[in-house]
Amino acid sequence: MDMRKEHVEQVERIERIKREKNAIILAHNYQRAEVQDLAEFVGDSLELARKAMDTTSDIIIFCGVDFMAETAAVLNPGKKVIIPDRGAICPMAQQLPREVLLAAKRVHPDAEVVLYVNTLAESKALADCICTSANAREIVDAMDASTLLFGPDRNLAYYAQKATSKKIIPVPELGLCPSHHQIALEDLIKAKEAHPGAKIVVHPECIPEVQDYADYIASTGGMMRICKEVEDDEFLIGTEVGLLHRLEKEAPEKKFYPVSTTAVCPQMKMHTLEKIEVALEKEKPEVVVPHEIVDKARSAIERMLELSK
Ligand code: 13P
Ligand code: SF4
Repeated sequence: MDMRKEHVEQVERIERIKREKNAIILAHNYQRAEVQDLAEFVGDSLELARKAMDTTSDIIIFCGVDFMAETAAVLNPGKKVIIPDRGAICPMAQQLPREVLLAAKRVHPDAEVVLYVNTLAESKALADCICTSANAREIVDAMDASTLLFGPDRNLAYYAQKATSKKIIPVPELGLCPSHHQIALEDLIKAKEAHPGAKIVVHPECIPEVQDYADYIASTGGMMRICKEVEDDEFLIGTEVGLLHRLEKEAPEKKFYPVSTTAVCPQMKMHTLEKIEVALEKEKPEVVVPHEIVDKARSAIERMLELSK
């Protein structure tokens, strides 16, 4: 069968099962183009968490990495949250196990704990508040303590530190996102030489040198808004390359260039149409967060949602 026809038929089958089961597909901005095109909603971590709470669907097919699907599950005990490929595990979230956080809390007993949403649920259960890249600065400012343990991304910690007089202690000391960390200042300088009129828009998971060189730093949702709203029509994009699809789709009159074409998150790319169809049919793998963790993790996530209204 020709590939195009096969694709159209597969999309039709998925749409039919979604209707029959009252299911919704939520996709992160880094998902494959065909997955983004199939989703009811595409967004950043904060937008996806809010969307998961708003939906009246019974089943959420969550096309993102594990911590995002877990956040949706924690916030929606009555809904079934399904992740098409269970292997979509964010390597950054793995860098802050519970024991490492407990050890840091013992050394800094007066500090409050703000954790990036890219964290294991077991660690979220120990946090005072969660944040995303969209609200990290706002959350840090809203906390009571003058010293904060902040993890697991040291680059996001750097971004938050630049906007506050509070003392931010990264935990672990060297946490990072492999896909963003490899975007080098030299890549950016070269890209700027090739496109001198382009504005530079980067994610706060990029290294400090890249952040300092950029015109704008924002979450993936924020990067979308900036590129669409400012008058400029050429942009250098410093984040995972999946965002380019949405940018080109929603602002076709503008030009977007990736700072690094190798900034790919393999875990984000694991969900495919084939896996989504099987997940919808079988209603698994379901994301289940152990109940002893759910309540504590939920209060830290809900505090974030309240503080970043
Ligand atoms: P955003 O919340 O900005 O989409 O970031 C999530 C993420 O995993 C970035 O690597
Ligand atoms: Fe995790 Fe980085 Fe992938 Fe985002 S891009 S999901 S932080 S590994």
